[in-house]
Order: sequence, then structure tokens, then C-alpha cells
Amino acid sequence: MATTPATQADTSANPAGPNAAGTDVVILGAGVIGLSCAWRLSLRGLAVTVVDPTPTAGASWAAAGMLAPVTETSYGETALLQVGLASAARWPSYAAELADAAGSDPGLRDTDTLVLAHDSGDKADLDRFAAYAQSLELSVQALTARECRALEPMLAPDIRGGLLAPDRSVHNRDLLTALATACERAGVKFVRQSGAIRVRGERCIGIDLADGTTITASNTVLATGAWSALITGLPSEVVPPIRPVRGVILRLGTPPDYLRLGGVLSRTLRGTVAGAHVYLVPRADGEIVVGATSDEVGFDDRVTAGGVWELLRDARLLLPVTSELTFTEAWSGLRPVTPDNAPLVGASGLPGLIMATGHGRNGVLLSPITAEAITALIADEVADPNLATLSPQRFAHHLPDADIPVSDPERTGSLLDRKVRT
Ligand code: GLY
Repeated sequence: MATTPATQADTSANPAGPNAAGTDVVILGAGVIGLSCAWRLSLRGLAVTVVDPTPTAGASWAAAGMLAPVTETSYGETALLQVGLASAARWPSYAAELADAAGSDPGLRDTDTLVLAHDSGDKADLDRFAAYAQSLELSVQALTARECRALEPMLAPDIRGGLLAPDRSVHNRDLLTALATACERAGVKFVRQSGAIRVRGERCIGIDLADGTTITASNTVLATGAWSALITGLPSEVVPPIRPVRGVILRLGTPPDYLRLGGVLSRTLRGTVAGAHVYLVPRADGEIVVGATSDEVGFDDRVTAGGVWELLRDARLLLPVTSELTFTEAWSGLRPVTPDNAPLVGASGLPGLIMATGHGRNGVLLSPITAEAITALIADEVADPNLATLSPQRFAHHLPDADIPVSDPERTGSLLDRKVRT
């Protein structure tokens, strides 16, 4: 899909009306996906505007920043795994280029991931996963309990064994800060308002803002994560099948005495404890991010006492020194999850509207390849063939008698504003 250069709004002829301004691409949503797309598109010389009442405040702010195509894969999700591996391979150059563009480091850590089993049932699960990963020729290495402790001396003495995988991590919040700066430096415009999809005839022509103005664009990108199905103005047949799945996540600090000894953890730990999943992601400064619950509670984004308790309980069973760490934050985010756990990346059924949403557990990991795919689509270039499996049209459904909802910025405002944490 080619794009035409932005022009100043011609208010006499503008189909969106007298309060419309034009750009090449307008992106609704300023999380890691929206910002990555905006940065890459602006580097191509396109005029880009990003619309979000609270940029960077959504799921990607809550995230741990694991780049974990291997250890987050589920049985049978091989297409998503291939896309994840392809995106993971892009991360080193992506992070270096971003650090240069922003003048700040997004905190990519090249340390691997150790997956642990706590009891014999967890060990049986881990052995099955190791066999599955090896059948896909993923470079994982099964370790005895003793070998695990040799890598991470502070592990619990009753660990049953582990698996070493090449997954890495990035500091999700430093990444968002760097992306926002890189966007600004590249000339991306930010509009801190809610927005609704503007349709005219058979085409999306931009975004209606809460203040009554419209931004018209050749291409509109929907990057609104868990809220994507609620965005006003979307014709019913292109409403994406995305639901929110809450993740409660903790941030702990390493006390100075332990920092002097080199910290308590040198690589990401993941584990199952009596079937429940937990991960601990160490940052360079000693912060340890512990996550995350997976709660099917709709748009309820509260941090619950039970969620905090379960995470601390399970983290402590893998790494007893967790009890000695400083409790600095409990947060939550809403993962945007699709029926097949893979994102929607590509043209929607509505001309002019492109989807970059529904990344579930993998938004940070998939941000480089998503931005590349959206840029290729808009610039009429060839995208990575792996991405064909992410086409939003795999969920195309047609509701012939359904009304097309009219744009109502006020209503959209109340929805997007729910991204703000209380
Ligand atoms: N990717 C980690 C999570 O969703 O909890």
C-alpha cells in the first residue's frame, strides 16, 4: 500500500470537514508497538502523528521486558515461535540503533534464561518441554540441579533441575523512554487525546479526536492493545477479537550488601511451582522484576493482594533470598490477547486501516518485526514472509446486518482513559 505525502488540510475540499489536519500516517496508541511503528515510519520520511491520552502508560509499561520466544512458546504455536525468533534476532541491532537515535540506552541484556522445576511434577513438565524444544531444533540445554546452582548459587536447595535457553531481556521502561525520544527527534507529532476511527464511505480516513478535530491520513494504524475491540468507529466486521488478560507484576530492589557481593541473580529465572508460572528478571542496577499473574477478569486492572502474595510465594520457593529484597512496586497491565495468541499485524478489512495490535505476552519482543512489517506495508515493500501468518484477516468475519458504529470521541475517551492506573 503506497502512501502520498502529507498536505496541509484544504478545508474547503477536505472530506473530514473544516476541522481536519492531514498527515501521512496516524497511529492510535503509544505503547511499545505504536511508538516502534512511528519511529520506523518517520525514518522513511513519512509524516507521522501518534494519538494517545497517556503515552507509554499501558501494558508495555507494566511488562518485564523479556525477549523470550523460546521460553514463552506453547505447544503447537510454531508460527508465532518463528516470528518471535525472527524478531529476537533483530533486537541487538534494533537496540543499538535506538540508543544512537535517542541518546539513551534501552537496556538490552545479553544474559540467557534459566527455567527451573520446583517439584517432580514440574520436572516432568520441564522434561516434556525440553523434548519439544529440541524437536524444533531450539538451542536449549537440560541441566541437573547441581548445574543450575553452579550458574545461580542463591537458588533454593530443593530445585529439581533446569533448562538453559538463549532468551534475553530489555528494560521495558527505558525502552519506552528511548522510543518516545527517538520519535520526537525524528519529527513524530504526539497528540495527547483519545481518538476514534473515522470512516468515510468504504475507507478509514483518519482519527477523530476528543476535542472535535480530525487528523486525516492515507494510513491509520490501530495500536491500542487490550482496548482495540472497544475503539469507537470501527465497522463491526473489522473489530479485532482481542480480550484483556491482567498481569500483576512486582519490582524488587537488591539491598547494598548483596550488590557489593555481585547481586542475587545474574540471568532471568523462570519456573513452575506446583504448575504456576513465575519469572524473575534482573536489571543491571539490581532491580528484580517478578511476574506475572494471568487473570481473566476483563478490564479490571487492580493489583490484588492475592496476586502479590502468589508471586512472592513462588519467587521465594525458587530464590529464597527474595525475602531479603526491598519491595518497591506492585503494578498491573492488561495484555491484549487474541484467540490464537498471535498478534494482528497487517491490513484490516477496511481500506486505509492497518492493525498492529493483539501482541499478548509478546509486545516488547515483537516490536522490531512489527514496526518493520507495518513500514513495509505502508511503503509498499516486501515484508518478512513469516508475517503472513499474522494477517488480521485470518479472523475476518462478516456481520451483514450490523450497524457501523458512528464516531463518538467522548465515549472513546472514557475507554482509552482507563489505561491510567489508579
Ligand atoms: N511476557 C511476560 C508476560 O506476559 O507476563
